[in-house]
Amino acid sequence: MSDFIVVAGPDIAGILDGDKEKVREIVASAYRLHDAGHTINPDSYFLRFPHKPNSRVIALPAYIGADVNRMGIKWISSFPDNLSRGIPRASAVLILNDFETGRPLACLESAHISAARTAASAAVAAEQLCTGSGLTVGVVGTGVIASTILDHLHSSTVDIVGVVAHDLDHGRAAAFAERVHTKIGTDVDPVGLDAALKADLVVFATTAGEPYVDAAYRFTPDQVVLNVSLRDLPPEVILASTNLVDDVEHCLKANTSPHLAEQVVGHRDFIQGTLGGLLNGKVEVERGKPVIFSPFGLGVLDIAVGDYVMGRALEAGTATVVNGFIG
Ligand SMILES: NC(=O)c1ccc[n+]([C@@H]2O[C@H](COP(=O)([O-])OP(=O)(O)OC[C@H]3O[C@@H](n4cnc5c(N)ncnc54)[C@H](O)[C@@H]3O)[C@@H](O)[C@H]2O)c1
Repeated sequence: MSDFIVVAGPDIAGILDGDKEKVREIVASAYRLHDAGHTINPDSYFLRFPHKPNSRVIALPAYIGADVNRMGIKWISSFPDNLSRGIPRASAVLILNDFETGRPLACLESAHISAARTAASAAVAAEQLCTGSGLTVGVVGTGVIASTILDHLHSSTVDIVGVVAHDLDHGRAAAFAERVHTKIGTDVDPVGLDAALKADLVVFATTAGEPYVDAAYRFTPDQVVLNVSLRDLPPEVILASTNLVDDVEHCLKANTSPHLAEQVVGHRDFIQGTLGGLLNGKVEVERGKPVIFSPFGLGVLDIAVGDYVMGRALEAGTATVVNGFIG
């Protein structure tokens, strides 16, 4: 009982890459359980630094019940200056605990898990919301999350015929185009913001801290927007759309675009429901307006995906077991 399991990033990346459909199933199931009240997902804690204002570390504790019955905490850093060091902005670990004893059970490298659960959540939403075939995707912000979302969209039921991408840093957009072409064989055209916003499915995955899309801009009623980076859109655009979130309490804080919209109108009536509610058949999406999905990013997703990855790593013999860790 006092053994401790450690799973390293490269092994986790291999599992997540090979099991994308399973990861989407796990994420959809976690959303359903969250909607049905079988999770505990308190507020995230933000560690910020006055002398290093562009950086932060977030702690996301969570418990997911039902047949998963696992608890733990993700501890994820965002250090944007890492990009100029040639290493990713985000890095993370996930601690999983045994729910019988509360004891720490495992430590998993978690930037890959975090990216995979975020991408799976975006693809699950797109599968639910995108109607029709032969869709174009417009990516705004071409980092790790955007790449992983494209991987998941490619392996999902969403029928994509073309991808355009925009990034403030043209070098990153070009590197993204090359990465996507190598990984999934899809050509990506680097474009300006205006062209990216016209795609059937628009994905925001920037690190923008406040809205920069024009307040007068309007998506068309048949467009679907995955607002993964949460702060690109002004309140006016949110209020002119049908809005789904992952969790209303979580998403309407920390100056996300839906939170800014709430501050403008003084209510939350513009939120139609959650993705979990939609998956459980409790929410019907109002068409005739563009649909925007804004996921705050729930710790329960990390726990559910991490629990699966730990099991697969143990089966495959790629986990390191530290005997007598607690003593
Ligand atoms: N909602 C969630 O569940 C969730 C989960 C994980 C990450 N995220 C968010 O996703 C975003 C992307 O993460 P990442 O790891 O890919 O970051 P990253 O640093 O690897 O890439 C971000 C990219 O956005 C570009 N960018 C920044 N501002 C821009 C703008 N105004 N217009 C166009 N491009 C712009 C940067 O040049 C960079 O290439 C972050 O904001 C992160 O917080 C959300």
